[in-house]
Amino acid sequence: MTQGRPLLNRRLAGFGTTIFAEMSALAVRTGSINLGQGFPDTDGPEEIREAAVRALRDGRGNQYPPGPGVPELRTAIADHQRRRYGLSLDPDTEVLVTAGATEAIAAAMLALLEPGDEVIAFEPFYDSYAACIAMAGGVRVPLTLRAPDFRPDLDALRDAITPRTRLLLLNSPHNPTGMVLTREELTTIAGLAVEHDLLVVTDEVYEHLVFEGEHIPLISLPGMRERTVSISSAGKTFSYTGWKVGWVVAAAPLVAAVRTAKQYLTYVSAGPFQYAVAEALRLPDAYFDNFRADLRRKRDLLGDGLRVAGFEVHQPQGTYFITTDITRFGEKDAYAFCRVLPERCGVVAVPNSVFYDDPEAGRAQVRFTFCKKDEVLHEAVGRLRRLAS
Ligand SMILES: Cc1ncc(COP(=O)(O)O)c(C=O)c1O
Repeated sequence: MTQGRPLLNRRLAGFGTTIFAEMSALAVRTGSINLGQGFPDTDGPEEIREAAVRALRDGRGNQYPPGPGVPELRTAIADHQRRRYGLSLDPDTEVLVTAGATEAIAAAMLALLEPGDEVIAFEPFYDSYAACIAMAGGVRVPLTLRAPDFRPDLDALRDAITPRTRLLLLNSPHNPTGMVLTREELTTIAGLAVEHDLLVVTDEVYEHLVFEGEHIPLISLPGMRERTVSISSAGKTFSYTGWKVGWVVAAAPLVAAVRTAKQYLTYVSAGPFQYAVAEALRLPDAYFDNFRADLRRKRDLLGDGLRVAGFEVHQPQGTYFITTDITRFGEKDAYAFCRVLPERCGVVAVPNSVFYDDPEAGRAQVRFTFCKKDEVLHEAVGRLRRLAS
């Protein structure tokens, strides 16, 4: 306190340490296998790492790169969107490189919201959403995705739209549930956005991790090109989460708005890594296919193990997370369960309850990641089996 006031301002009051920091620290302290935070335990393609080393050595990106991102990367992002989704983008005005998807989300909220604007998002939500909406002075309006299949209630979405609604913040494939929006769902959402003249910000960082169905960027649907801010990043797709190279693609006026906020957050970041990610986006289809197949196999390995251990498993269609229900263990408090899980069997997971405004909705849900080496997953599954005995 100073001057009789708390140090942390009112907008951020209540946002303590992220659950990932708390649970990762618990994993280190207890020597447990960390299936909490979503980062791979092996690096991505060797040639992409070498591309970063080359860029560093050749002095490319060691000084401030251009504000919107290096042209090589902006062009590679535009080419990727054309190749995968048939989208045509101007790399100079419709692509913006950011410090991961995290900065893109923050910059979009800071740029597009007036204080008091309502933002509708499906909960459980990725933990930065609530904080970014709050920092921008927005008001979050959660719509609950419910187990077992976590499909969005689109009638509830229609009912939640008010004259104060400014934007929808969507995430598909969805962390933590693994739900992937279908074309029909996206079409309904697009119709509502057009009807109510809403902006939509889409977080697509798991675009290459869809096991059932397909990833359809909302921006590609009729009427959405001029109102969608589409966000993705290299971290998950290329298994270099520490590089923090993300991007925004949108119509030029939206990119200009987001860029205005972004330039005062980091201005620029990750210079040499931008060149490496430009090469990564040009990897042949086989890379993306193998990556997906490998993660699908890991999903099944961990999913089967969790079932044997006694969890109810909500099969994810995408991402690298599995949401489970712990009711069968006679437990109903995911947070308490996760705090003692290291002691009980040497594994760390995260409680989904912290991703809900309505903690009741996720009270018994626990999330595990499967982006780990096979031997680590086998060991974790073996340890989790202790819960069954
Ligand atoms: C849904 C979602 N959005 C954004 C991010 C952050 O992406 P980045 O590391 O590119 O900032 C994550 C990382 O876990 C995520 O799960």
